[in-house]
Amino acid sequence: MASISVNDVAAAAGVSVGTVSNVLNRPDKVSPGTVARVQAVIAELGFVRNDAARQLRAGRSRSLGLIVLDVANPFFTDLARGAEDRAAEDGLAVLLGNTDDNVAREAAYLDLFEEQRVHGVLISPLGDIGERLNRLRARGTPTVLVDRQTEDRSFSSVAVDDIAGGRLAAQHLISLGRTRLAFVGGPNSIRQVVDRLSGARLAVAEHSSVSLEVVDTDALSVLAGRAAGQQMLVRAPGDRPDAIFAANDLLAIGVLQALNMRGDLHVPRDIALIGYDDIAFAAAAVVPLSSIRQPSVLIGYTAVDLLLREAQGGDEFEHEQIVFQPELVIRESTAS
Ligand code: RIB
Repeated sequence: MASISVNDVAAAAGVSVGTVSNVLNRPDKVSPGTVARVQAVIAELGFVRNDAARQLRAGRSRSLGLIVLDVANPFFTDLARGAEDRAAEDGLAVLLGNTDDNVAREAAYLDLFEEQRVHGVLISPLGDIGERLNRLRARGTPTVLVDRQTEDRSFSSVAVDDIAGGRLAAQHLISLGRTRLAFVGGPNSIRQVVDRLSGARLAVAEHSSVSLEVVDTDALSVLAGRAAGQQMLVRAPGDRPDAIFAANDLLAIGVLQALNMRGDLHVPRDIALIGYDDIAFAAAAVVPLSSIRQPSVLIGYTAVDLLLREAQGGDEFEHEQIVFQPELVIRESTAS
């Protein structure tokens, strides 16, 4: 069945094509009666506007591209919520891409969003893609780094100080009197993990009686956390950590699940546990989880605000690198 065109709608409604275009784009310029008549014909004929044609005329789509590491992680869906809230204020939508720690997928999404002529791209990058992002911007697509600090002042970025966050988590465990800490997290290709571990090491270095072991994981997921927790269970009691700092809340929830499966290990009495992000599931965990809070919704909102100001600001736009401070949230999993 041939698609319905603007001409078909105009003929059926007895108005000009320009009037149909005004009803679609500037209804305030058309009498209410005509708007209602044209809209009734659009519904009756099943007309769907061709955004590709509009994009060609306008040069830009009405959307932004957001590329995140793991869409299954509530941290990123909260960030997407903030991005969407700010985008909607300017009548824009957010297209979401998920890289799953895969550089080929990341490159494919950057190509796709450029082809789609999105207004701009927000990305939590996997590695150093500065050159690719420079090419993107040179061809008219501004980019803001989210959940990543950058030394490159030619890009705007919005993140939390993950080194400070890791230090805060370890200092909290040490303040409980715990001396055998374990950091559970990985892969080390993820900069956020590396920075959190660096922060924890800074805190431990201030206490000669405190040790820190690293339990690498292949993902930042509940499953990976559960595997790490099960690894603790098979150790002799004196060989287990007395406190665990998980690189994010999903890992911490998995560790908690594994420890809970054994009736003889108690969180926090035997092993204190803290995560990172403060996603909603942290407070809802079977042992409410202490965490290092990131203002995830605000990160997304702020990143889009920077992006839109850059898109509208032109060459004199000053890029900003915004770094929020992490916040310690204490719950039962580290109660003293
Ligand atoms: O995706 C990896 C982690 O980095 C997330 O849990 C969130 O903490 C982000 O900062």
